[in-house]
Amino acid sequence: MLENKKVSFLHLPTPLEYLPNISESLGVEFYIKRDDLTGLGAGGNKLRKLEYFLKDAQDKEATMLITVGGAQTNHGRLTAAVAAKYGMKCAIVCDDEYPGEVSANILLDRIMGAEVVLHKPDGTELMDVVEDVKKRYEAQGEKVYFIPMGGSNEVGELGYYECAQELKKQCGNGHVITAVGSMGTYMGLFCGLHGADISLTGILIGPFYEDCKAYAVEYFGHIKEAMGLDYHVAEDDFDIREEFIRGGYNNTNEEVRQAIYEMARKEAILLDPCYTGKTYAAIKDMVASGDIKKGEKIIFIHTGGMPGLNTPHHRRAFEEELMDGVTVI
Ligand SMILES: Cc1ncc(COP(=O)(O)O)c(C=O)c1O
Repeated sequence: MLENKKVSFLHLPTPLEYLPNISESLGVEFYIKRDDLTGLGAGGNKLRKLEYFLKDAQDKEATMLITVGGAQTNHGRLTAAVAAKYGMKCAIVCDDEYPGEVSANILLDRIMGAEVVLHKPDGTELMDVVEDVKKRYEAQGEKVYFIPMGGSNEVGELGYYECAQELKKQCGNGHVITAVGSMGTYMGLFCGLHGADISLTGILIGPFYEDCKAYAVEYFGHIKEAMGLDYHVAEDDFDIREEFIRGGYNNTNEEVRQAIYEMARKEAILLDPCYTGKTYAAIKDMVASGDIKKGEKIIFIHTGGMPGLNTPHHRRAFEEELMDGVTVI
């Protein structure tokens, strides 16, 4: 059903791996869905969405992709990757100050040839900045296709609807836990897992929403219409946890760093400090509080984001803690 709506450039399904050491230390049955291994441009969840956006852009004969996000947007990096591979131009418009160096995602964006437009938040509407950038490229003859923040709309959501079909085949039952940002990943899984013996919890990563469940109901409404779904939902159908934000979006946080060390030192899997590290830290808290029961089958979606480890403010926090194991002789 979905194949004719996308350009396939991923090697799907992504692996579902059992993690014995984390399972033992948490006392649960712990699986990880490796959506960080999605190939292009260092991988991550946004590539699933971009398969569908690319098809839509090609159908509209676009020559350029423009998207928006923070300076460290993983979605921007992966949009740059897809544009590079398919011979398109790319610009990423960021509602952020220049972080003082070209590193982490910005470095990868530039290596892959995208323009990064950093616009210091000053009350101007971000979409007005996008419009200016779009006009500049249109004047050069480009046909621009705009992808919303995080690739989360009824097109991008199909990527995680498809991921849910993989999960149903790979594990049949269990408790899926994923980070929630612009919500497309969660919403795609929510719709795709409807009626399955698999529960879904989202961990909200930043204070993005006045009322995230009200937003989820509204977002679901758009998808319901676009996909012709025949069931209704209410706010309480969405299990999105807001209590693990830990003070802000993409902030440095010791518990998150500890969670990252644990996953790296027990399973050699690298999480990121913004999304997946925070989500794994939340899982640990939920195990400690009994919210996740001993022996429960957990399926953690690794949504990628690893380049964020090199974001200047995160790297400095890591360096302070890790310098004791750097021996200079
Ligand atoms: C690494 C990573 N994980 C999770 C998310 C959240 O995905 P979504 O925006 O679909 O909620 C993002 C979004 O930017 C991300 O970059």
